[in-house]
Amino acid sequence: MRIDKLLANMGYGSRKDVKILLKQGVVRVDDQPVKDAKRQVNLETERVTVQGEVVEYKPFVYLMMNKPVGVISATEDKVESTVVDLIDPSYAHYELFPVGRLDKDTTGLLLLTNDGAFNHALMSPRKHVDKVYVAEVDGEMTTDDVRHFAEGVELEDGYTTKPARLELISKSGRRSTVRLTLSEGKYHQVKRMIAAVGKHVEQLERVQIGELELDPTLEPGAYRELSEEEVDLFFT
Ligand code: URA
Repeated sequence: MRIDKLLANMGYGSRKDVKILLKQGVVRVDDQPVKDAKRQVNLETERVTVQGEVVEYKPFVYLMMNKPVGVISATEDKVESTVVDLIDPSYAHYELFPVGRLDKDTTGLLLLTNDGAFNHALMSPRKHVDKVYVAEVDGEMTTDDVRHFAEGVELEDGYTTKPARLELISKSGRRSTVRLTLSEGKYHQVKRMIAAVGKHVEQLERVQIGELELDPTLEPGAYRELSEEEVDLFFT
């Protein structure tokens, strides 16, 4: 990649800012000053420094997003806005993709990465990574539903879900708030399970994946990189 593009992508300022750094002679490749913005560099094989600081080669990126309503969990779409459209262009060269999907009207914890092994560690049915949702339900969720979900619910297509943990959080009139922990991820699973007991999900938020909770400081649409410890939660 061109050195001006690389450094701009890595947060050293705009392409213009980077050109100034290059002119100043503070950018070095394998200890030689480089002034040509078009110079191709490869961080895997060459050592790039800016004002003496090494530019780290980072092959993989892991982001936690608080997905807002109204965007789809895809990388690109001709009509709809996607979660990847919300990511700063400085990440574009990483070619991030969402780990699994949340519906367009579902909010909350969504991870994005370019690491296929991370995606697999979270999504493979054999890895049993629980996903936790909070749902606002039109209808009264009952202790019978809790028992029913613990045994597995037959969906409208005849599939019986794996045992799921349903917790009744609050009730107000005919509305209920519940927390549901699933160990599998069938299409529209939460909505279909709640429909199978005769009620309707009005709002749905994912709050946790495995041990990783949604960062409460992230506004809808905001994201941050995962720490190394957070990434490691899924590689044990
Ligand atoms: N279950 C659903 O019904 N929708 C989601 O977005 C996630 C789980």
